[in-house]
Amino acid sequence: MTKIRLGLLFGGRSVEHEVSIASATAIHEALDPARYDVTLLAVGRDGQWHRGNPGLPPAASLDGEVVNLPASAGEHRLLRWEHGAAESAGQLDVIFPILHGRGGEDGSLQGLLELSGVPYVGSGVLGSALQMDKEVSKRLFAAAGLPVLAWVLVRSREIARGADVAAERALSGVGLPMFVKPANQGSSVGIHKVTTPEALIPALRDAARYDAKVLCERAVDAREIEVALLGIDPIEASVPGEIRSHREFYDYEAKYVDEDTELLVPAPLDPDQTASVRDLAVRAMATLEGAGLGRADFLLDRSTGEFWLNEVNSLPGFTEVSMFPRLWEASGLAYPALLDRLIELALERHRESESLETLYRRS
Ligand SMILES: Nc1ncnc2c1ncn2[C@@H]1O[C@H](COP(=O)(O)OP(=O)(O)O)[C@@H](O)[C@H]1O
Ligand SMILES: [Mg+2]
Repeated sequence: MTKIRLGLLFGGRSVEHEVSIASATAIHEALDPARYDVTLLAVGRDGQWHRGNPGLPPAASLDGEVVNLPASAGEHRLLRWEHGAAESAGQLDVIFPILHGRGGEDGSLQGLLELSGVPYVGSGVLGSALQMDKEVSKRLFAAAGLPVLAWVLVRSREIARGADVAAERALSGVGLPMFVKPANQGSSVGIHKVTTPEALIPALRDAARYDAKVLCERAVDAREIEVALLGIDPIEASVPGEIRSHREFYDYEAKYVDEDTELLVPAPLDPDQTASVRDLAVRAMATLEGAGLGRADFLLDRSTGEFWLNEVNSLPGFTEVSMFPRLWEASGLAYPALLDRLIELALERHRESESLETLYRRS
């Protein structure tokens, strides 16, 4: 069997650079060497791509030689520059991008991959962009009849013109307590729980440091339930899991620092709740044009028992202890088999898009 030449792409310019390296390290260890010929591609904080030594862990790749993926379809060739001329630096059959956050899962990288013609794991340009934008996501969820908490969008220019007017609009539309979040961000960066009117303007200003759009959302006292998703059509849902954090909410510290954050797999839910949250999760990913993998996150309202759809992540955390692989493990799909399936889906999606007509033919 000829091996699949796989580019594992990680790192990146976002605040989730380290998280990405942790995910890539776990994937690298689990990829079957008899099946895959892996090229490590580390994106530095400066945006340069470096090719690592496959014998070393991904974290060591950032010092590797600088390579490029040309934005022109061809032989899926990586390039490097030698004395001012481009040379081939290897070919790839598929790319597994595991870059979280802006520039990695927001559709921009997917645009480059589309132009280069290399098949890649995960959602395409549109699906990635939609899933990254919490505010556009909510509009589409609401239009699809999916349950979302009331929200008000505030733009950073509006905050600059008059923060008190923006704050007043958020207060009258959403009330307190509320969550204030940058629309395009992850890992809880720039997110505030606001419980007093005085805390609102500083929270809006801080969230606006991370994105030009800020989402103000009604806060609920809730359990956090997550469902892992796999496939294109059909999309399959895993058993649900639950996150129990001992902090005020599931913030950056709880996600990556706090050892006391518990992941319950499966989540203690009754059969009706389980069926309904899995169904909502599949519909959520389909609504945002997701493909390959995703993780839908819900807030289960402690007072009413309702599920509120919070977000769908197109590139969820992927270390072996992360929720996404653990949910699949509990659903009967082990980590290496999960990777194989994602790569198959990438090749399948590419074959489908290649089969589309690119010329007008009179029928
Ligand atoms: N409306 C809300 N009500 C209650 N808790 C919330 C709400 N919005 C966010 N949170 C809390 O903040 C955390 C991070 O918010 P989230 O929207 O998931 O952003 P991120 O993309 O950074 O994960 C959630 O996991 C949850 O603990
Ligand atoms: Mg979240």
